[in-house]
Amino acid sequence: MDEVGLRKVSSRASISDLDDFELLKLLDKPKLNIERQRSCDERSLSELSVGLNKGSVDNFENLYSPGARSGFHTPASSARNSFDPHPMVAEAWDALRRSMVHFRGQPVGTIAAYDHASEEVLNYDQVFVRDFVPSALAFLMNGEPDIVKNFLLKTLQLQAWEKRVDRFKLGEGVMPASFKVLHDPVRKTDTIVADFGESAIGRVAPVDSGFWWIILLRAYTKSTGDMSLSESPECQKGIKLILTLCLSEGFDTFPTLLCADGCSMVDRRMGIYGYPIEIQALFFMSLRCAVALLKHDAEGKECIERIQKRLNALSYHMRSYFWLDFQQLNDIYRYKTEEYSHTAVNKFNVIPDSIPEWVFDFMPCRGGYFIGNVSPARMDFRWFALGNCIAILCSLATHEQSMAIMDLIEERWEELIGEMPLKICYPAIESHEWRIVTGCDPKNTRWSYHNGGSWPVLLWLLTAACIKTGRPQIARKAIDLTEQRLLKDGWPEYYDGKHGRFIGKQARKFQTWSIAGYLVAKMMLEDPSHLNMVSHEEDKLSKPLIKRSSSWTC
Ligand code: GLC
Repeated sequence: MDEVGLRKVSSRASISDLDDFELLKLLDKPKLNIERQRSCDERSLSELSVGLNKGSVDNFENLYSPGARSGFHTPASSARNSFDPHPMVAEAWDALRRSMVHFRGQPVGTIAAYDHASEEVLNYDQVFVRDFVPSALAFLMNGEPDIVKNFLLKTLQLQAWEKRVDRFKLGEGVMPASFKVLHDPVRKTDTIVADFGESAIGRVAPVDSGFWWIILLRAYTKSTGDMSLSESPECQKGIKLILTLCLSEGFDTFPTLLCADGCSMVDRRMGIYGYPIEIQALFFMSLRCAVALLKHDAEGKECIERIQKRLNALSYHMRSYFWLDFQQLNDIYRYKTEEYSHTAVNKFNVIPDSIPEWVFDFMPCRGGYFIGNVSPARMDFRWFALGNCIAILCSLATHEQSMAIMDLIEERWEELIGEMPLKICYPAIESHEWRIVTGCDPKNTRWSYHNGGSWPVLLWLLTAACIKTGRPQIARKAIDLTEQRLLKDGWPEYYDGKHGRFIGKQARKFQTWSIAGYLVAKMMLEDPSHLNMVSHEEDKLSKPLIKRSSSWTC
């Protein structure tokens, strides 16, 4: 079927008989193209080259230096050579391979959970874009890039579908939250059903999917050196379509992206509507990836210019208004309100009385973090793991801020890591606030699931952030904790409780991203050069505007 025909197929229709010409065409291209990489332009060499650049080398020097700053001593269990393959690693690989999904004989992804014991499948038998990212990284690190390439191409085809919720048409660039392969053993056909939010609980489109897709495309390119995929017209178009959704001009007065509740990993109502940190950090990271991936032809150059402007504005906004440490908290505490005009200090008219009590106890003298959300008269002071780790990886956080985020994790180890890494957010919301904010969601009761639950998948992000900031000891300690329980408990999706001690109330077992997240963390710690796939050095052009406050001395 031609492209026009393809577009007419609604997202619910099957594409079993669609010609996979594009897919095959691209798969035929040479896989590893080191020669080509050598001859590519300067941008490609500096941003996409395989290997370490200066900044990373500095980090790796810190890695095993005894003087590296950390509040931790090497835990007893790490006395064992940490590079010994742990028995859990082989089990994890077996489980990861069992979760692989095939389309016409080709691996195209991994299902969210392979839990036979669970009566309710819901949509856990689907390939989720965000869930596949740690699986993809594990395969790339293990020298198996084909499944990643297939996934990138398959989801790109799905992007071209016409997407509708009731009678309303979604933007062209929207990527699916998930897709499912249906095998018909009689007709011997494979068909795909995709969900762009029209089947999801709450009917929200996944804003994060497109960002993860771009981030994964860069990881694939960095890891394999194969630039033919990202430079193909299909991929170039896919990147631009995703970014068109975010870079268009409108009524916005902020460079951050306005979102509905439930549009990311936290895919239910949790009071993250507005400008959630998870989306802003992923947005920033995918913009940086796009700069590296877009070709410098006329169209590409124009797009890159727009991206650079947005990156500048976004980093200024985030570093200035989302950043919180002891000093900033004290400043907000003393804010005057009702200020008008350009001279206003309290730009968003935040009323100091709205600062929740827990922040004063939680905020250590040493450390800081990007808060959950900032909008007029509303600061969500909650700490979110994913957004803060991604901010470190893509250098949305300045060097000082990255260090401060790690300091905070060390200082608040009991609260954020407890017995199972890592809290999705802190603290949980309870009672009346829980009723109002979640709409009485029984799955998101306090210290469960998205509401302060502990998610093993986040271990890979923590590990990557630890390596980038030269604190591998923290990652090792977190991995040790994971190894005490994760396999024994059957790789749950999440844990409950203030310290993450209990297997989540409704957690799936054999949750693929819990398995893959562990593998990625292990492989990254063993070979820190893998970090390059998901890391960006600080852009020297955008000078840090906010210095870390002198909170050390308080
Ligand atoms: C849950 C999670 C979501 C994840 C999905 C599949 O809905 O909230 O982030 O993608 O499960 O594992």
